[in-house]
Amino acid sequence: MLFDRVKPLDAILATAEKKSLHRSLGAFQLTMLGIGAVIGTGIFVLTAEAAQKAGPGMMISFIIAGLVCAFAALCYAEMASMVPVSGSAYTYSYAVMGELIAWMVGWALILEYAVAAGAVSVGWSGYVVGLIENAFSIDIPDTWVLGPFDGGLVNLPAMFIAGLVTWLLVIGTKESATVNAILVAIKVAALTLFIILAVPVMNMEQFEPFSPLGFGGIGAAAASIFFAYVGFDAVSTAAEETKNPQRNMPIGLIGSLAICTVFYLLVAAGVIGAPGVSSQPVMDAAGVVGLEPGSRELAAQCAARAADGMKDVVCSKEALAFTLREIGWPQIGNLIGLAAGLALPSVILMMMFGQTRIFFVMSRDGLLPEAFSRIHPKFNTPHVITILTGIFVALFAAFFPVGQLANISNSGTLFAFAAVSIAVMVIRRTDPGRHRPFRTPALMFTAPVAIAGCLYLFYKLDVKSQILFLIWAGIGLVVYFAYSRSRSHVGRGHIEVHEDDPDAPPTSVPPIH
Ligand code: ALA
Repeated sequence: MLFDRVKPLDAILATAEKKSLHRSLGAFQLTMLGIGAVIGTGIFVLTAEAAQKAGPGMMISFIIAGLVCAFAALCYAEMASMVPVSGSAYTYSYAVMGELIAWMVGWALILEYAVAAGAVSVGWSGYVVGLIENAFSIDIPDTWVLGPFDGGLVNLPAMFIAGLVTWLLVIGTKESATVNAILVAIKVAALTLFIILAVPVMNMEQFEPFSPLGFGGIGAAAASIFFAYVGFDAVSTAAEETKNPQRNMPIGLIGSLAICTVFYLLVAAGVIGAPGVSSQPVMDAAGVVGLEPGSRELAAQCAARAADGMKDVVCSKEALAFTLREIGWPQIGNLIGLAAGLALPSVILMMMFGQTRIFFVMSRDGLLPEAFSRIHPKFNTPHVITILTGIFVALFAAFFPVGQLANISNSGTLFAFAAVSIAVMVIRRTDPGRHRPFRTPALMFTAPVAIAGCLYLFYKLDVKSQILFLIWAGIGLVVYFAYSRSRSHVGRGHIEVHEDDPDAPPTSVPPIH
């Protein structure tokens, strides 16, 4: 009864055929798209969070998180090539596992996208505030640039950037291929510059103790740093626009993940080995347990240590710029701040775009109020849902620490990744004859490893994020049974093909050609 509302795959595919996007993307563009969506707050900011949880052992955390993503990416690629339409994991689940699971996945994707947009906004704020303070030698009071858990009151710059991106989305801004390429170049240049300056001067003694909080700490850091890889699913949603997807999809997915992993490892090594800067966790007064990242206790301890002249990367809101300043490159540190300030908004844009389009598809399926899919008469964008999303993103960004937001976002992403990995196994059984432009290699190994990896990382998230995820899922179930189930178009027997609606906005990732 509960799992019988499946949206027929043929209807979904008919939708895609009507859309019939031009197949123009090759392996290189896909890889660029992936890197553009992936590199962001994770490496620029959360490196400090990972150090607080694992110390130098965060190098292993980057590898663990990257591997889980790689396995999930291979499963995503098969679904994306077979069901190349908008809505990503939500749509895949609707076709394979029915409406209830699809609803739960869509509901979890709200966490993935909206909360992640909040996290990246906070990350942006840290870099821009650091840049202004250092470049102009001024001190902006923490009250207005940090949330209450970080020792401030409200993070106004983070609210500002969330508001600005919302406005850009309402007026219909999309990232063009050229802009994406420029921003990827800026991000890659910034990280490369960091590596060139920091890696040769590494002091290997700083890698000791390598794992101050044990393997538990490494796992916990992997669960947080997983955020640094989120976004590669943007590649899979471009399946419909890809030339020879069987070849190019895996290159784009695995290629962008591999490139990011190499950068992340080198950057992490540079941060850990920076002479005079500690990447060891800041412990409680008794020196027994590492303080919780994004907690008032850690903020207080950091303030005390800074007053004593200690240089802890875990206390920095702009880990890479901070490291460069400390190793004698203050101007280049500012340049990295500038690069982050320019490039991170595009990650926020991608995330919020994804969010509004998923809301849009869910609303069009009848599961969310119709007002959500209302289109602005002039800008031709789903303005109602964009503004609503923007308000929430700005509020998250104003009051919560970046690491907490990233962890909450990760909980939703891990759920969606696991659901897609299950879906791809189910549909191999239920619909073996369907054309699959890309087949996941060794599926019966790859998908279970992806699922186990997601479960492990979820288990290693902080308890607050786990509980919030469960509460969020509970609210989702109540909304589904109280509102959505009775209004579902599939439930009422309408299976529409929508993409030819004259006024429907584009529902794939931002076009990149
Ligand atoms: N992976 C993206 C980032 O780190 C979400 O900002």
